[in-house]
Amino acid sequence: MALKITVIGTGYLGATHAAAMAELGFEVLGLDVVPEKIEMLTRGEVPMYEPGLEELLRKHVAGIEGSTGRLRFTMDWAEVAEFGDVHFVCVNTPQKHGEYACDMSYVDAAVESLAEHLAKPALVVGKSTVPVGSAERLAARILELAPAGGEVELAWNPEFLREGFAVQDTLHPDRIVVGVRSDLAEKTLREVYATPVGQGSPFVVTDFPTAELVKTAANSFLATKISFINAMAEVCEAAGGDVAKLAEAIGYDERIGSKFLRAGIGFGGGCLPKDIRAFMARAGELGADQALTFLREIDSINMRRRGQMVEMTREALGGGSFLGKRVAVLGATFKPDSDDVRDSPALNVAGQIHLQGGQVTVYDPKGMDNARRLFPTLGYAESAEAAVRGADVVLHLTEWREFRELDPAALGDLAGTRLILDGRNALDPVLWRKAGWTYRAMGRPAA
Ligand code: UDX
Repeated sequence: MALKITVIGTGYLGATHAAAMAELGFEVLGLDVVPEKIEMLTRGEVPMYEPGLEELLRKHVAGIEGSTGRLRFTMDWAEVAEFGDVHFVCVNTPQKHGEYACDMSYVDAAVESLAEHLAKPALVVGKSTVPVGSAERLAARILELAPAGGEVELAWNPEFLREGFAVQDTLHPDRIVVGVRSDLAEKTLREVYATPVGQGSPFVVTDFPTAELVKTAANSFLATKISFINAMAEVCEAAGGDVAKLAEAIGYDERIGSKFLRAGIGFGGGCLPKDIRAFMARAGELGADQALTFLREIDSINMRRRGQMVEMTREALGGGSFLGKRVAVLGATFKPDSDDVRDSPALNVAGQIHLQGGQVTVYDPKGMDNARRLFPTLGYAESAEAAVRGADVVLHLTEWREFRELDPAALGDLAGTRLILDGRNALDPVLWRKAGWTYRAMGRPAA
């Protein structure tokens, strides 16, 4: 009989995983503790913007016309425990308030609430990004709490999806990593992934700590690549070099690779910043803090890019105060194709200029509601054109396709001054300069 799957937590990770599992033919039950989320998902609506996810969900959510009916949602732990053979734990692990460490309270609560109801054999599979050592601790907790005792096992199966590509990354993962303690757990996970999702993807079987570490190591490496190229941008700025050309040239070396070498205002979002901090905190607890001191530098290079963008703007405006200056900001989310504004470099830059007296007007294709909630005192406009009207300077801070497709000539007629600063190195300088704009980008010569 086919395995029955449950997914606990319906954020970016859980909602996508649940829909993807249904797409692969499994019966899936998703759980969340937030009633509004469950109501939305049951209507086939996604609580966040993620390309392709709503379509996938509507294809499978029970009760929606023409759906397969394979996907349902609930708030009832007993129902989940009774239904599932494999339970994926997909709740979030944010940074603790005022600390670097990871807040494990949601994972702990989810595993405990589930375990208390597990009266039949099951595999609990952690997908959340957690400090190394968590799986071992949680396995012991399950053994303590589950009525089925040793018949309930834990496995760790980190998720590598990127926001904006969540559906694609879940259905076609680069690799599948599983941390297991028994042949049965491995066999069960092979069965889950013996579907199109796993075909062609390397399947790495390992122990708990390695599986947990793969995720934090991968994110640390990505953060390091971005901060490396941003450090090169600083040197280029000092030496008059062009970091975009430099990145292109070093990227041709296959050992280096061209991805994640786009210099700009740096990384943000709900993962990379908090993951490298939590990793440092955990290494400290383990007495291995020296091994990760370089991540402090990665973090600090990243954070100072935001201030450098503010200073670049000040200089471009002739120096001095921002008082009375009109600043148009294109982009609020931490990356394009997402409505996520968590730790967004774009909003940070906009906020700094606003707090220093600038008249800031922000426009973002999908992130306006979230940005308004997080930073209600900033000015907002309903289109790029409206944001740019009368501006002394335009800042391009999130590289949405919509901004690359703007007509610089038409926009120039609206702006007070044809001055654009590209914080993402993503616009075509030739195009903008041809339309009479002064175009500047981080780490590149002025003209
Ligand atoms: C990341 C990892 O990529 C993913 O594998 C993991 O599962 C979760 O964390 P995500 O947070 O969605 O995914 O964003 P990502 O695409 O990695 O971008 C992170 C940040 O880096 C963004 O703010 C982006 O603008 C920035 N970035 C990325 C750069 O500044 N330069 C680059 O070259 C690439």
